[in-house]
Amino acid sequence: MIVSKDHIVNEKSAIRQYLLSTRLNLSDEDRLAWDQQIFNTLITCPFFQKANQIACFVSHLNEPNLIPLLLNYLQTHPELLQQKSLYLPILKKSATGSYLSFGLCTAQSKYKSNLYGIPEPDITLESELEANELDLILMPLVGFTSAKKRIGMGGGFYDRTLSFKLTHPNTKPYLVGIAYDCQKFDSIPVEQHDIALNNVVTESQVY
Ligand SMILES: Nc1ncnc2c1ncn2[C@@H]1O[C@H](COP(=O)(O)OP(=O)(O)OP(=O)(O)O)[C@@H](O)[C@H]1O
Ligand SMILES: [Mg+2]
Repeated sequence: MIVSKDHIVNEKSAIRQYLLSTRLNLSDEDRLAWDQQIFNTLITCPFFQKANQIACFVSHLNEPNLIPLLLNYLQTHPELLQQKSLYLPILKKSATGSYLSFGLCTAQSKYKSNLYGIPEPDITLESELEANELDLILMPLVGFTSAKKRIGMGGGFYDRTLSFKLTHPNTKPYLVGIAYDCQKFDSIPVEQHDIALNNVVTESQVY
C-alpha cells in the first residue's frame, strides 16, 4: 500500500490532538510530582553528567517544567555551575522556514515573549548559540514511541534546526525527549525530515 503525504499529515494531526488533550487534563499535583521524578532521573544519566552546554525549554501547555529545578540545581552546586550552562530556544525566521537558536538562561536572565507567548532569553545576536554548539538538547514533545520516534507541535522547528542530523546522526548535540508517560503512543508515522531522539526521560523510566 502506498501511504500518501496527506494521509501521514492527517494521522500526525489526529495523534497530536489526542495527546495534547490528554496532557492538558493532567492535574497540577501530578505534574509537579512527575517533574521532580523526571529531574531526579535526568541528573543520574551519563548524557546529562557529561554535557556542558545544555538546552532545555520553557513549559508550555502542560509540558514538563524542568527549568526551575535545573536552575536551582546549578545554583546549589557551584562546582557544576562552573561547568554547565543552560540555554533556552529562541525562534528565528529564515527563507526556508522557522528554526531555533539558543540563548543563555540564568537566574538573572531577562525574557521577552515570542509569537506563541513563550518566554525567550532577551539577548544580543552574538551571544546566541546554534544547535551544533550544544552538547545536549532536552526537547519538548507531544508524543513519542518506545523506538524514540518523536512528534512535536507541528511547526517543524526542531526538525529544521536539527536537519544536519539526517546526514550526521552521531554528531552532537545528543537529543533527549522530556515527557510524561501518558505521551507514549504505540506508533507514530515518520516523515523523511523527522529527527529521532537518542533517549526519552519520563517520570517512570528512560527509553
Ligand atoms: N528540514 C526541514 N526542511 C523543510 N521543512 C521542514 C523540515 N523539517 C520539517 N519541515 C516541515 O515542517 C512541517 C511540520 O513538520 P512536523 O509535522 O514533523 O512537525 P513536528 O516535528 O511536530 O514539529 P517540531 O519539529 O517543531 O517539534 C512539515 O510541513 C515539514 O515539511
Ligand atoms: Mg517532526
